[in-house]
This record gives sequence, structure tokens and C-alpha cells, in this order.
Amino acid sequence: MAKLHLITYGCQMNEYDSERVAGLLRERQYELTDDAGAADLILVNTCAIREKAEEKVFSKLGELKRLKATRPEMVIGVMGCMAQLQQATIFRRAPHVDLVFGSPAIARVGDLVERARREGRPVLETGEAPLVKITAKPPTADRLKAFVTVMEGCEKHCTFCVVPRTRGRERSHPPAAIVAEIEGLVAGGCREVTLLGQTVNAYGRDLIPPTDLAELFARVNDVAGLQRIRFTTSNPYNLTPRLIRAMREVPKVCEWFHLPLQSGSDAVLERMNRGYTRAHYLDLIAALRDAEPAMAFSTDIIVGFPGETEADFAATVEMIERVGYDNVFVFRYSRRPGTPAATMPEQVADDVKADRNRRLLQVVERVTGAQSARLAGRTMEVLVDGVSRRNPGELAGRTRCNRVVNFDGQGQVVVGDVVRVRVTEALPHSLRGALATPEEAVCWSK
Ligand code: 5AD
Repeated sequence: MAKLHLITYGCQMNEYDSERVAGLLRERQYELTDDAGAADLILVNTCAIREKAEEKVFSKLGELKRLKATRPEMVIGVMGCMAQLQQATIFRRAPHVDLVFGSPAIARVGDLVERARREGRPVLETGEAPLVKITAKPPTADRLKAFVTVMEGCEKHCTFCVVPRTRGRERSHPPAAIVAEIEGLVAGGCREVTLLGQTVNAYGRDLIPPTDLAELFARVNDVAGLQRIRFTTSNPYNLTPRLIRAMREVPKVCEWFHLPLQSGSDAVLERMNRGYTRAHYLDLIAALRDAEPAMAFSTDIIVGFPGETEADFAATVEMIERVGYDNVFVFRYSRRPGTPAATMPEQVADDVKADRNRRLLQVVERVTGAQSARLAGRTMEVLVDGVSRRNPGELAGRTRCNRVVNFDGQGQVVVGDVVRVRVTEALPHSLRGALATPEEAVCWSK
């Protein structure tokens, strides 16, 4: 068999795509190798969300150039979002690249690789194509938790974001194909799925007949043997009461909601074209907490968006404190080619962005630490997923609200079990616990 080395940057959807590619290429007699030097084919799955992500790829391509000099027959391909956005730059800055293809072409990866090998000149494939559910099984070991792409693309046109240009229009996979994929995963031992989409709560609007994420939850919930359903990423813009109700009513849907806020300032939200105000966002949080008091929230924040003042930044700090997030991902605004915000006046200086980033992380540490502290003494449902990173004598797992819990349970429970753990110590980034006795079995979740 020929050897394939896959390098993946970026989001969960890229991880998912890389696995599909590995599955498809296995059907063409390629097996995965960790050793780039031994590979006949190297594919770099890329991210274009921020400039830093792109720079990482160019530096990796520089490394691969040296490798290819020693093995000229090696084929190097670049796939994913940067391929779509930066095709000309890739061939200019990295002329040793043989193949560039965007996510719509993933289903045809086998043919594209063959073409690149046969023709001996660069192959480019970045056109639009219908969404295809790839059924090739990933060659990686069966796993407890898996990502499942349910839709792709985004039509929100936030002014900072390249995704509408890299992943195209919103296109959903039919529910039956998703359920079939999840049934296959569960047969292989999977207990938790994360349904993926760039605006996953817009799922199904484009299908005939139309459907929605609430309906999909119900269908996936019926898959016997599956324990947990998560989903990401949502947009506050089309977060409906129906979805909020489904989060309460569908048993396997976990009490964890990733809801990007981006900024706490109405003026900035408006310039970002986010389609909601801070008041509306707070109403959504209140409705979600009302439906499910144990709900944990995480979010994404951009600091240094064009025109962001100290007062705007203070409004973001205030929102983080008010919502009380369990986790916050902070990003410095990055100018993306072709997006409206890239040419807005009043770009914020790098040192100001860095300073706000640092200050916000301090706030996040305090707020998320306080959220963690609230869990001390509670008994929580934990899906055991491995051993503790610090102490191999201990087991580790995650709560439904997505917190890591380390506990002593060796010999009593095994990976894949769902157990109840009493939290004995709540550290900022993880919990410590003990297996609950039957009397403690009341759990802080639905
Ligand atoms: N600059 C910085 N962060 C960005 N994100 C998206 N585009 C940009 C950009 N141009 C962030 C948003 C989004 C997350 C995935 O990446 O916060 O939710």
C-alpha cells in the first residue's frame, strides 16, 4: 500500500473532512503514516479564518519543500479553506505543491490525486459542487466520541469572516444520511456525537421538505446505544424557541451551548453585521437557562474589531461577567482579504489588540473559574473517555456540560461507561471527583 500523511489545521469540520479523505484514499490503497518522510502523498488540510492560521500553513509548506527535494516523486496537496481562498498565492509561494482543492471537491480526492500524479503538473479544483455525504469509513480506530458534519456553508455575511467564501452557501445533509452515519459510528463503539455546521442551528432550511435542528435531535436521539448529542456552532441570529425547547426535551442533548457573542457592544455588533443586540443575546441566555438551569455556555469573542473603543471593550467584559461563561475563546481581529471589515477605517493597532486580548483572558480566567467552583459538591454524569493526563492511575471523562473530571475509578469502571461522579474539588480547568454512591445518584442535569 502507498503511504498517506495528513496534516490538519483548524476547526472540527476540518478534522472530520481529513478523516473522510483518509477513508476515501484507503479505498485507493493508501494507508496513513505519521512519518511525513515516508509518505508518497502528503495532504495539508488548511484553515483561513485568521492570518496566523495561513502563516502556519506556509511555514509547513516550506518544511515540505525540503522533504520533497529528497523525494521528488512525492505528491503534495493543499486542501480546505485556504485552498479555496488563496489558490494563486499557494502556487506562487509554494511551487512544489502539486494539487490544490477546496472542500466541495473532497469526494473526488482519489481522482484528483491520480491526476496530479499522472499529469505531473499542478492540478487545481476549487469549483462549487453539490454536498455529498461521504460514507467511506475512516481508517482510524473506532472511537467513543465523533464529529458528524450535518451542514456546510454560511450565509450570514458577518463582516469579519471568510467562511461564506471558503465553505459556500448553506447546504444540509438529509436526516436519513446523518442518522445512518451515526448508527454506523455507534455500532463501532461511539457513544457521543457532535453535530457540526458553521451555523448548525440553520440546519435543514434548504432541504425539501425543510426540517430543522430540533427535528434532527429527535431523530438522532432515537439511535439506540448513543448516549450524548452535542452540536456546534450556533448563531444567535436564528436561535428559535423551538430549538430551545428541544434542548430541554430531547434527553440525549447535553446541557452545553456554544453561542458566539463576538462583542458585547451594540455598535460593534452592528458593524459586524451580526443581526442581534446584546439585549437580545441576554434574552436568549435567559430563555436557555429557564429551559435548562444546568446549561453551561461557551463563546467566541473578537477583540480589536475596526473602530472598537475602550468603552466597546468594557461592554464585552461586562457581558462575559454577566453571562458567566464556562469557556471563552478570545481572538484578535485579523483582516481577511475580501471581507468588508478589512477595508473599514479605524483599524485597531496590534499593540492595542494584544493588550485587550491579555486583559480579556484575565477576566475569562476569573469568570470561568467561578463557574467551575459552583460545581463543587455536585454529583454529575460523566462519560469515561480515558485516563487522567496528569495521573495515569486515575480515570478521566467529561460531564454533560463539557467539563473534564478526573477521578479514582480504576478497576471499577472502564472507558465508555457512563457513571455518576461527586465533584470533590473544582479547579479552574478541571474537576476532581469520586465515584458516587447510589444515595448520591441525584444528578445535576436533565
Ligand atoms: N479575525 C479574528 N477572529 C475571527 N473569527 C472569525 N473571523 C475572524 C477574524 N477575521 C473568530 C470568530 C469565530 C471563530 C471561529 O473565529 O470569533 O466565531
